[in-house]
Amino acid sequence: MPNQTPFKVLAVCLGNICRSPLAEELIRQAARKADQSWEVASAGTGSWHVGNPPDPRSRSVAQKHGLSIEEQRAQHVHPQLLAEYDLILAMDRKNYADLQKMAQTEEQRNKIKLLLDHVGLASETGPDVFDPYWDDSGFEGVFQLLDKAAARLVAMEAKM
Ligand code: 4NP
Repeated sequence: MPNQTPFKVLAVCLGNICRSPLAEELIRQAARKADQSWEVASAGTGSWHVGNPPDPRSRSVAQKHGLSIEEQRAQHVHPQLLAEYDLILAMDRKNYADLQKMAQTEEQRNKIKLLLDHVGLASETGPDVFDPYWDDSGFEGVFQLLDKAAARLVAMEAKM
């Protein structure tokens, strides 16, 4: 009997236009491939880009790898999302600290994880998914890193 209640995962970065939209789609695809019923979304700790589509450089790297993130729109993380999602994945330590400040209960604080640390990659890659906003050459590396992290996440959390 498959698990009917979707596992809800929220990827969080600063602007919700570069890293977390890629994380969202890569985690969604990895879960789908593993036949997992996951609901995946993303949000930003900053509000500058709310309502905007992902950065053209993230859209382009996604497209190059056969994925579309065109339909995503940036949202600002808010306390209700921390209550609603089962696992909240911060892309870097600053995002993690900002989310921890926003959390209102111990349960919410425990759901917030630093992505690369949570999936056991931090010792190899460092703790942060590099913010490529100011560096055009960083997007491919971010994509590759998030692809690896998404596969590990699904392998860890998958319900049989
Ligand atoms: P993201 O990248 O957090 O990966 O979406 C950024 C996007 C926008 C800005 C900074 C980082 N910004 O300063 O507007």
